[in-house]
Amino acid sequence: MTTGEMAPAIVGSQLPASLRGTLSGRYYTDPTIFAAEQALIFETGWFCAVLAADIPSPGDFETVQIGRESVIVARGRDGAVRAHLNVCRHRGARICTEEKGSVRRAFQCPYHAWTYGLDGSLVSAPHLREMPDVDRADFGLQQVHLREWLGYVWLCLAEDPPSFEDTVIGDVTTRLGSPDAIVGYQVADLKLGRRVEYDVKANWKQIVENFMECYHCGTIHPELSEVLPEFADGLAAQYFVGHGAAFGEDVDGFTVDGSAGLERIPGVGDDQDRRYYAITVRPQVFVNLVPDHVVFHRMFPLTAERTLVRCDWLYLPGVVDSGADIDRSVELFHRVNQQDFDACERCQVSMDSRSYARGGVLVPSEHHIGDFHDWVLQKIG
Ligand code: FES
Ligand code: FE
Repeated sequence: MTTGEMAPAIVGSQLPASLRGTLSGRYYTDPTIFAAEQALIFETGWFCAVLAADIPSPGDFETVQIGRESVIVARGRDGAVRAHLNVCRHRGARICTEEKGSVRRAFQCPYHAWTYGLDGSLVSAPHLREMPDVDRADFGLQQVHLREWLGYVWLCLAEDPPSFEDTVIGDVTTRLGSPDAIVGYQVADLKLGRRVEYDVKANWKQIVENFMECYHCGTIHPELSEVLPEFADGLAAQYFVGHGAAFGEDVDGFTVDGSAGLERIPGVGDDQDRRYYAITVRPQVFVNLVPDHVVFHRMFPLTAERTLVRCDWLYLPGVVDSGADIDRSVELFHRVNQQDFDACERCQVSMDSRSYARGGVLVPSEHHIGDFHDWVLQKIG
């Protein structure tokens, strides 16, 4: 990629003050730009990879694609979760091809049977005894930095990870006004009630941008706008620091028809009750907080024009274990997701149009999306 090609084509200077320019269309389709994002965004920052409760027992594992790397995330016999690059130290074969599963004690490379413990150490290899000068300790799998937060396993491929507090928790703080505001939701103690995966034919940035604004809410989210009447005015809960959108007066719960929700999470304060908070944790997580559940989106960018979104609905364990009916609760945000992802796909197909070669514009309630664009540009240089 030449410097000239990377220059942001933002129309900025000629625009009236009410408008800000966007990224140009090729930022959403160009494989070279996507490769730069993989290398300089997804492989350098903290990436929310796995719900820790999805690998509850020793030997349980998931493989995750982060940027250009495949990573094995496994629970060890000591109960700790560890992550390693899914690359055999012998001749580089991908060790594990399953998305998830369980092994007894070790991962064996299917090529020449080098065998690695759950902690990544090289346990055995055929004819290793005949190579007394080879120290097994030097040939373990390459470990990946890991943090557990909100019940999820966050990974960082960088040699020197950025501060988790400043980046991940920093984004939550910027949105909610305080790092403590999320604590009462006890997210790590909640239990998965439902998961839906969406294969979205859109660039990951389309999905982030859509989540950051509510200019579209009145048009495409009739159910959500009924529950949160202020959304019909187009100002998102993401717009004001610390603001949660209030439920409508006649709304009982955050459900598709405004009927009563589930049991309120005990730590949620009265000031947070009957309110909806939305948080974007760059680059690939959205957290939605309501009094009785949390909707947690993880994005997995697959190509410049395709993104897998895993959406988890998390409730109090007692709610899930009792078999309570969560359908109306799940249905609200499932519809919101479908409406949003349809909109993202509708934009994606135009990104290569000559009409969008210099991008579009952001209205005042979307101006903060420009800060996200600046962040992306600064990262990919
Ligand atoms: Fe894995 Fe040879 S490449 S054992
Ligand atoms: Fe939306």
